[in-house]
Amino acid sequence: MSLSSLISPLLWKKRDKVLRKYLRCGSLFFFLAVGFQARSALGQLSTEDHLAEPGFWPTQDNASRDNFVGTDTCARCHGVKAASQKKTPMARAAMFASLSDLLNSHPLMVFGPGKYQYRIETRRSQSRYTVSDGNQGLSFPLRWAFGTGRVGQSYLFKKQNADFFEARVTYFEKLGTIDFTPWRALLSPSGIEEAMDRPVPQSEVMRCFGCHTTGSSVGGRFDETHLVPGVTCEACHGPGIGHVQSMTDQKADSSGKAKTAIFNSAHLSPGDAIDFCGACHGTWWDVKLAGVKGVSTARSAPYRLITSKCWGKGDARLTCTACHDPHEQLQTDAAAYDKACLKCHASSLEPSKTASHDGPACSVGTSRCTTCHMVKVYVPEMHSDFTDHRIRIAKTGEAFPD
Ligand code: HEC
Ligand code: HEC
Ligand code: HEC
Ligand code: HEC
Ligand code: HEC
Ligand code: HEC
Ligand code: HEC
Repeated sequence: MSLSSLISPLLWKKRDKVLRKYLRCGSLFFFLAVGFQARSALGQLSTEDHLAEPGFWPTQDNASRDNFVGTDTCARCHGVKAASQKKTPMARAAMFASLSDLLNSHPLMVFGPGKYQYRIETRRSQSRYTVSDGNQGLSFPLRWAFGTGRVGQSYLFKKQNADFFEARVTYFEKLGTIDFTPWRALLSPSGIEEAMDRPVPQSEVMRCFGCHTTGSSVGGRFDETHLVPGVTCEACHGPGIGHVQSMTDQKADSSGKAKTAIFNSAHLSPGDAIDFCGACHGTWWDVKLAGVKGVSTARSAPYRLITSKCWGKGDARLTCTACHDPHEQLQTDAAAYDKACLKCHASSLEPSKTASHDGPACSVGTSRCTTCHMVKVYVPEMHSDFTDHRIRIAKTGEAFPD
């Protein structure tokens, strides 16, 4: 679950209320000034706002199932990208529980903080989730596993009917076993059912699958049978049928330059490029509207990044793809990020700023910049560290700067 997944319609109303408050308490000029600042200094929109604009945007509801061609088709012409993207955690962000390596390699997980005993037992790729209070017990097969388990893995299941329920427990990598699902721990559940699960409303089901799978909503409806698990090519580039046709016919195009007819976020403005990844990772507005504060916000790289001094009014040299190739594994060698910093910062060999290097040089370090300036922060509900994307001079022992 990401932070923005916590946004409820109520919060959208809250934002409108905030804006209306400016209208009420001051002149229209004040309203415009604040509105302008919010959108330009922080340059951003909420995902809901982007989705309301025409054209493709990640997590959108899709017009038709028939417009998707699938990764295997993309692989015919983009073989290298397809082979590497398939191995990324994004491509494996959700799977049927039966296909979860994690469940299969942890045949029995038990957690019993109080009155209730929780267990997930996996045998021959079938996982059962059981909760008991000593007298009675409830048990259901798990259906979906969310997350590769890099940090954690959560589970959805169904009872007799078609509705989804979220298991009250999640696997955490740092613990090596299950504990309460983030934000879902209950001090005193009213009974065994409440202790066991949380019913997930259909609108939220659509959002979960919208961020963790491809093509899950068609024509305003959630389509469990045809969705493609994981964030694959068409989750970020839009349904590909037009592009494939166009590229196949390219030779016949007399001008020699066919329209690519596919979405490529490389053409976006820097602010929109950040929001693009923010469709799932949480834009600045998404996090604000969700009301999340403190270290939990470190889970949203887009939110933190644009509050860095480096970002200025928005800069193509500091978009997500300046440091991450979404088709490749996350780079964990800190030295590999130096070149991104040195696109703007003068190196210590040439310490004065130049027109092309408008950032000052560091008086302390010459390489592995991120180890000191993009610190890891511990997020308690995830039992794990996240990289704070607010680039800054971090002082030891300081409180997390909101
Ligand atoms: C707005 C998009 C969005 C929604 C909605 C969403 N997620 Fe996520 N989820 C993400 C992103 C992005 C990450 C990676 C960043 C992070 O860990 O916070 C993530 C991470 C996770 C992780 C940790 C993954 C790992 O490998 O460590 C789990 C587990 C998870 N989500 C489960 C869920 C479940 C279950 C739901 C619905 C009940 C859900 N998510 C809804 C975007 C979303
Ligand atoms: C028949 C071969 C073929 C198939 C199949 C194909 N592509 Fe392409 N694609 C190309 C070629 C050739 C280009 C380069 C076009 C150019 O630069 O004018 C391209 C360019 C692109 C671009 C950059 C477009 C731009 O305007 O910047 C993206 C993104 C892309 N492809 C994604 C995909 C995805 C996603 C799929 C699967 C849904 C896919 N392609 C399937 C041949 C193909
Ligand atoms: C359709 C939703 C979606 C979009 C769009 C998206 N992401 Fe993700 N991303 C996820 C989810 C979900 C995860 C968590 C995967 C997991 O660990 O289970 C994730 C994880 C990641 C990770 C962590 C990988 C690792 O090895 O731990 C990186 C880095 C990342 N995304 C970068 C990006 C960038 C850069 C963009 C924009 C170009 C982007 N993402 C756009 C959904 C998305
Ligand atoms: C998480 C989002 C995401 C996913 C998933 C994704 N892409 Fe991309 N893709 C991007 C972004 C962002 C860019 C622009 C990169 C840049 O800024 O240069 C891009 C650029 C491209 C390009 C054109 C630029 C180039 O390097 O040639 C092609 C072709 C492409 N993607 C194909 C694919 C294919 C094929 C898949 C599936 C195997 C895929 N992409 C999956 C986000 C994604
Ligand atoms: C200036 C370089 C830089 C930029 C720009 C950047 N990142 Fe990162 N990102 C990093 C570094 C460094 C790590 C930590 C890598 C490691 O684990 O060693 C990281 C890690 C991540 C992770 C893994 C989870 C975590 O917190 O460690 C995600 C997800 C992620 N980035 C998403 C994004 C997104 C989305 C954007 C755009 C808003 C972005 N990043 C922009 C440098 C960058
Ligand atoms: C787009 C250009 C750009 C990129 C890329 C960039 N910076 Fe900066 N950075 C700047 C500018 C300009 C300033 C000065 C801003 C100011 O003083 O208002 C700055 C300021 C800083 C500061 C001082 C912040 C403070 O709190 O006083 C640090 C530290 C820093 N950058 C480190 C880095 C590191 C490390 C990287 C790579 C991970 C990086 N920057 C990438 C442009 C950039
Ligand atoms: C060993 C930790 C460390 C490493 C590695 C490091 N820095 Fe720094 N950096 C610092 C500290 C500490 C300061 C604050 C120095 C001070 O206040 O005098 C600083 C200050 C800065 C500043 C502010 C300078 C100013 O005059 O305002 C920038 C910009 C910066 N670093 C960028 C970088 C870049 C770019 C790299 C990589 C090439 C880098 N740093 C590597 C620790 C480090």
